[in-house]
Amino acid sequence: MQKTILDVRRLRVAFRGYPAVNDISYQIKQGEILGIVGESGCGKSLTALTTMGLQPKVMQASGEVNFNDKNLLENTEKEWQKVRGEGIAMIFQEPMTALNPVTTVGDQVAEMFQLHQGYSKKEAAEKAVEMLNVVHIPDPTKRAKAYPHELSGGMRQRVVIAMALACKPSLIIADEPTTALDVTVQAQVLDLLEELREATGTAIQFISHNLGVVSQLAENVVVMYAGRIVERATAEELFANPQHPYTVGLLGTLPRIGMARGELPSIPGAVPPLDQRGSGCPFVDRCSRATPSCTAEMPEEVELSKVHSVACHHL
Ligand SMILES: Nc1ncnc2c1ncn2[C@@H]1O[C@H](COP(=O)(O)OP(=O)(O)OP(=O)(O)O)[C@@H](O)[C@H]1O
Ligand code: SF4
Ligand SMILES: [Mg+2]
Repeated sequence: MQKTILDVRRLRVAFRGYPAVNDISYQIKQGEILGIVGESGCGKSLTALTTMGLQPKVMQASGEVNFNDKNLLENTEKEWQKVRGEGIAMIFQEPMTALNPVTTVGDQVAEMFQLHQGYSKKEAAEKAVEMLNVVHIPDPTKRAKAYPHELSGGMRQRVVIAMALACKPSLIIADEPTTALDVTVQAQVLDLLEELREATGTAIQFISHNLGVVSQLAENVVVMYAGRIVERATAEELFANPQHPYTVGLLGTLPRIGMARGELPSIPGAVPPLDQRGSGCPFVDRCSRATPSCTAEMPEEVELSKVHSVACHHL
């Protein structure tokens, strides 16, 4: 049995008393890839940022984020820096935000080795080239001397992944890491993440609004809606047997063979704003199965099997 490295319990992240992340609990085991999926505004990034201590200052976090059995929400700034340098690494949608435009990519990866692994400048430069090779950047000695703007989006994201790996994290949080890339490059980056998980044993929390992309990579998937976890299952089970009306809706929005461009369906309606979320089921405004009990009361998450739970009054 693999050890649980991240154990999030009843996490709530609120803006002026309105929760954007509402009482969510989930675990990630060593080496596991957990997918988090949901539409824009569901609280995916906020959950990730809070796990790194990087949520906006105006947001109030409560509950527990236990990483290797320590509740990170009690961390001092110094302790956070250690977590970010050695324990958890984060990869964002736009690699340019993580890269320094005026430093070569080789130097940026090398700096990670110097800072977090104590290598000398020369050793770090060699390790950086090695790491660029690990993430399959062709001709890494030459590319190490390039500046970020001289590389393609896919190559830049590989550099960011190399920087993350240099810290030897036990957890990588990837927040929409392939959303800005075209489909072919996206598939290559997903393959790379899978390969690195195999090689290094790092766990990955993979966030996307695209259930198709998530299920390519993740073995377990959590579905978020309006700050809540509404369903969770293995990726296989979620596809074969989705139960929550929201998950069913998300599956219905996936492109299918034979579908014309621009034909992609969407779930009617939108995620309600923070101050318009009642105490009942968050999906009630958009749900075809909704009854008055849905407005009155938030459904509890029910375990349908060992690998499948769902929060809905009318299954
Ligand atoms: N700095 C902030 N101040 C106030 N509200 C915020 C702030 N940051 C996020 N929120 C609110 O928190 C909610 C969740 O945002 P979050 O960025 O986590 O969504 P997301 O699921 O990552 O969406 P996306 O797919 O668009 O990235 C949103 O309703 C957003 O309006
Ligand atoms: S609890 Fe009610 S509104 Fe919510 S998803 Fe289930 S049926 Fe729909
Ligand atoms: Mg986000």
